Amino acid sequence: MSSSFDHRISVLAVADLEAVLEIEEAVYSHPWTRGNFLDSFYGGHHARGLRNAEGELLGYFFLMPIVDELHLLTFAVAEKYQGLGYAKLLLQEMITYATQNAFSSVMLEVRVSNKRAIEVYQKFGFVEIGRRKGYYPLDNTSREDAIVMRINVAQESL
Ligand SMILES: CC(C)(COP(=O)(O)OP(=O)(O)OC[C@H]1O[C@@H](n2cnc3c(N)ncnc32)[C@H](O)[C@@H]1OP(=O)(O)O)[C@@H](O)C(=O)NCCC(=O)NCCS
Repeated sequence: MSSSFDHRISVLAVADLEAVLEIEEAVYSHPWTRGNFLDSFYGGHHARGLRNAEGELLGYFFLMPIVDELHLLTFAVAEKYQGLGYAKLLLQEMITYATQNAFSSVMLEVRVSNKRAIEVYQKFGFVEIGRRKGYYPLDNTSREDAIVMRINVAQESL
């Protein structure tokens, strides 16, 4: 099992796209496409990835700044590395990034059926602020609600 001391988190770029897609397509029922990721990279969003000592990508997040808030667009840990605390590490990194760049909050949408992710977010300190009806596609005929969550970020005193 990897210890939390042999990892590093760094900014992701287009060159990391294949490794990101490999995880994204394995863990999501409705994954982001290559085009979605390229739009995000070229749209000036902020993405960071967690790697182990061998350089293997273990997880990542993509954030879109909206005025003083960061919107978490996609966030995942590779299946074989889940349950090891890496989501918590990545969420902590988001908060550090938000604090250092004067964002006051991070918000996200999550499928109502994604109990695991909801639990991870709640344990971390995100709170539900609303629901969006039929936000996500489910299958060809139905859609699923989103829970909207937010965490406030303490500002560093200058
Ligand atoms: C949601 C996700 C990112 C969590 O990643 P993870 O690395 O497994 O999470 P962590 O190991 O950091 O766990 C964080 C907390 O979740 C809990 N948890 C871990 N494994 C769990 C499991 N199998 N079932 C329920 N809760 C679990 C733990 O209690 C942990 O809290 P603790 O440290 O206080 O015990 C990961 O499951 C994932 O990538 N899922 C698919 C993509 C997704 O749904 N992303 C979110 C979209 S909004």
